[in-house]
Amino acid sequence: MKTSILLTTILLIIFATPSRVMSMEAKKALIPAPVSAVWGSGTFTFSGQTKILVSPLNEQTRLSAELLAGLVKNPTGKSLAIMQGEKPAKGSVFMTLDGSIKNNEGYVLEVTTKGLTIRAKSAVGLFYAVQTIRQLLPEDVEKAELVANLNLSIPTCTITDEPRFAYRGMHLDVGRHLFPVKNIKRYIDMLAMHKMNNFHWHLTEDQGWRIEIKKYPKLTEIGAYRKETLAGLQKKTGNTFDGIPYGGFYSQNEIREVVAYAKAKFITIIPEIEMPGHSCAALTAYPELSCTGGPFEVRKLWGVEEDVFCAGNDRVFGFVEDVLTEVMDLFPSQYIHIGGDECPKKRWEKCPKCQKRIKEQGLKDELELQSYFIRRIEKFVSSKGRNIIGWDEILEGGLAPGATVMSWRGEEGGIAAAKSGHDVIMTPGKYTYFCYYQCEDRTNQPIALGGYVPLELTYSYDPLPKELSALEQKHILGLEGCLWTEQIQTPELLEYMSYPRTFAIAETGWSPANLKNFDSFVKRITEMHKRYDAIGVKYYTGEYRDTKALKEKK
Ligand code: ACM
Ligand code: ZN
Repeated sequence: MKTSILLTTILLIIFATPSRVMSMEAKKALIPAPVSAVWGSGTFTFSGQTKILVSPLNEQTRLSAELLAGLVKNPTGKSLAIMQGEKPAKGSVFMTLDGSIKNNEGYVLEVTTKGLTIRAKSAVGLFYAVQTIRQLLPEDVEKAELVANLNLSIPTCTITDEPRFAYRGMHLDVGRHLFPVKNIKRYIDMLAMHKMNNFHWHLTEDQGWRIEIKKYPKLTEIGAYRKETLAGLQKKTGNTFDGIPYGGFYSQNEIREVVAYAKAKFITIIPEIEMPGHSCAALTAYPELSCTGGPFEVRKLWGVEEDVFCAGNDRVFGFVEDVLTEVMDLFPSQYIHIGGDECPKKRWEKCPKCQKRIKEQGLKDELELQSYFIRRIEKFVSSKGRNIIGWDEILEGGLAPGATVMSWRGEEGGIAAAKSGHDVIMTPGKYTYFCYYQCEDRTNQPIALGGYVPLELTYSYDPLPKELSALEQKHILGLEGCLWTEQIQTPELLEYMSYPRTFAIAETGWSPANLKNFDSFVKRITEMHKRYDAIGVKYYTGEYRDTKALKEKK
């Protein structure tokens, strides 16, 4: 009797010391939160002998097996065997496609002391299950170097999971500042780790054209470089410039490399080619595509340029179609983003060609001319079997058939588009623009655009507007966070402004609305800091709450 009490006491001490309990709790800090997680009390431990059995083992399913094997290999140097296998086996991981799982991205992960079973409808579900396992493993798996005596245990559990929205995206503007391919890949890695599936790559701007187009070499020879850049923040008058030439672009080979990299992480890259506005870099290279004939210089200031593509010149449409043909060859995405935002109509009002077009086409005004422009391009893109996305200004003057709307100036554009039967991706700037400050006290913050978008505000956003019926809500494909880079000059700053706000978008896009809880999210983010540190990625760690809203409530 005495010995059994002693034994129980010893066992209690061993298994219930706070550090052990805490570390197992910490490992349950999943982002995004899964639909259902039932935790057991045991663990499964990976060893060099753990096999990964896959049914069927093919190019797509192998990606997930290799991702998992890589997580063990990095810190231990041990290569797990990957092989075709038809059933679970003791001490192994069994991954299988299972038609009974409804959602294409869904999965069921069962971890017992004897092994792991992952079931998914498709290879992408297996991939997301492995991202979950990754977050259950100690953060040392993220390190590139060997880690001595690493315990690769994960808690026993059954996780049943699927996304709430089909579209979970992040945008990145490389027009204002561009970033090396290795940082673009790292951005993609962070999205994949948090089960996001779209990367919206904003490739052309007034301040720089960033994609090689073989038919129009001057786009990058001339359009990819500006003489200098505004120093600090823009003033009404008396702006100063840094005097440093700035530029660069992605070659088609680099683009193909990034597209393939993203594909292996089940991320679609949606390219954005801006038209008819935000086209000053293109006009600098080919001034004959403007209303006035130029000359121009790649814009050195931020803001919106008044010179835009001439909507009355058929050569412009030939040019845009040629560019989009090369773009569609590089990017296999169903969607091609054609911009459409912030197009001043000042030049069109004075341009004889634009006015002739308005008259000939029986258009009411310049807004309808913009609509003519977008409709014509939409027809071209859809003739190639793709669909366009445009910012919500494409609603003005009439929405092109088949267009999907990105609602950035608020939700109104998205609501109107959904009511008229168009698909929508919500990106309301007030919640999803990460170019804005993330805390109220700006004294120690890098210069940002003027707004205030704290983590709590981003997290609070729900993309399904109450104004829409259940049927109309089906047009809301999901949401996206946007990173405009006027004030983001370096990869480190890019990460600091993106994370953790990006992960709030990830959770809203994936997790059921009734499971969302900001306090829990902050706890999990704080736990994840260790993982981000192990990766070496930068992130913001200050005030996460919406302190302005808290004060207003009082
Ligand atoms: C935008 O922020 N101009 C889409
Ligand atoms: Zn014109």
